[in-house]
Amino acid sequence: MSIQAPKGRFEGYLQREVPAEDSLLTHTGPGTPMGEAMRRHWQPVCLSSQLQDLPVKVRILGQELVALRTKAGQSALLHLHCCHRGASLEFGRITDCGIVCCYHGWHYGIDGQLLNAPAEPPDSPLLRKVRQGAYPTIERHGLVFAYLGHPEQMPAFPDYDTFNLPDVQYRPYALSHDCNWLQVHENLMDPLHAVFLHSRMGEIQLTEAWGEMPATDWFEHGDRVCYLTSRRIGQNVWIRFNEVGFPNFGQVAGFWEDGQQEKYFERVGATRWTVPIDDTHCWIFGLRHFSDALEVKGIGKPDQVGLEQIDIYGQTRHRSYEEMQRNTGDWEAEVSQRPIAVHALEHRGSSDRGVMLLRRHLARGIEQALASPAAVEQQVPTWTCNVVLRQPAAPGADDSQLLLGLAHQIKDVVLQADKLPPLQRREQIERGLRNLSVASVAA
Ligand code: FES
Ligand SMILES: [Fe+2]
Repeated sequence: MSIQAPKGRFEGYLQREVPAEDSLLTHTGPGTPMGEAMRRHWQPVCLSSQLQDLPVKVRILGQELVALRTKAGQSALLHLHCCHRGASLEFGRITDCGIVCCYHGWHYGIDGQLLNAPAEPPDSPLLRKVRQGAYPTIERHGLVFAYLGHPEQMPAFPDYDTFNLPDVQYRPYALSHDCNWLQVHENLMDPLHAVFLHSRMGEIQLTEAWGEMPATDWFEHGDRVCYLTSRRIGQNVWIRFNEVGFPNFGQVAGFWEDGQQEKYFERVGATRWTVPIDDTHCWIFGLRHFSDALEVKGIGKPDQVGLEQIDIYGQTRHRSYEEMQRNTGDWEAEVSQRPIAVHALEHRGSSDRGVMLLRRHLARGIEQALASPAAVEQQVPTWTCNVVLRQPAAPGADDSQLLLGLAHQIKDVVLQADKLPPLQRREQIERGLRNLSVASVAA
């Protein structure tokens, strides 16, 4: 009996070539265009809670560093290798004002000044000449941010409106990923994946409403790229407005939305930065936001948020391989795109418009960032929100057009209030959205 090969057009042999990655957007080491652009912005480098009585070795943007908290309580970030003869400062002794290298006792201040070299004569010129590489740090809500760029181009620390919400409890977190930063970051402009990955392909990972196919649009505004998704939930419409900011900032609206209750400008579930460790590893550093308004269903778990943990399914490596296969989450979907996703092999469609917009935005942003220092903007209004309005479908009309039209009206109401002080801004946006709601019901 002859054995028949299966019929069909098998092209594996013809598709084996793997082209190079997009180095402009994915390479972030010292001297690379994207690496230098990222260094123009404050970047989270670790959690405040990691800085206890021992130094912490960290790798950020391909650089070997050591983070520490002095005995006086000041955070610091220095080059890992002691500039005497290279011993790692992770083995150093923390002092009131800096760190002493374990090998020959050189003592550095938080700005890298050599304060003492006890094996050298007191008048050694080394004390004047030598400086350990160091970077300024700022702590906010339990994240340690550092500025790794040229000292003369340091921007002000951006004060996002969502850092200052009186009713919000912030929980810092850090989630490591074994892949390039970009494929993790651009997931934020890929809202259609939620319909499949988080809803239809396995267990419901968020709420059932996420499984509804939304009308979707993307747009660029200033230094940010945004998406609008608009879902029909019975007589209501749930609009989700999310943003990413150049180069690696992002915010996502509350996670547990089910579209049942009307709401106007419900804010952020998480503020986050995707920070390269090197070109094939990255961190998501973030702040989970908890408030009564965001947690009416009591699903969020502040005590499950921190180093390598978050209270949202599928965001970390810490599940069995079988579970990852049966109920796949963001972590493995992103990491499995290869150590560095190869854009030349992709077959992108209309649902990938946001990813394409983001990549173009980043390429342009690199040019602008390298041509001029980052804008010094103290107060930064952000837009991320969930809105639910009562808006029954119109009989005979194209509902997807209605959904999209409403989403754009909401976008306009939110963006038009940017210049107002925080309290007035919130009031104006809420008023505008309520008026929209009344108008849409009347229509
Ligand atoms: S290598 Fe650090 S003091 Fe000698
Ligand atoms: Fe996701």
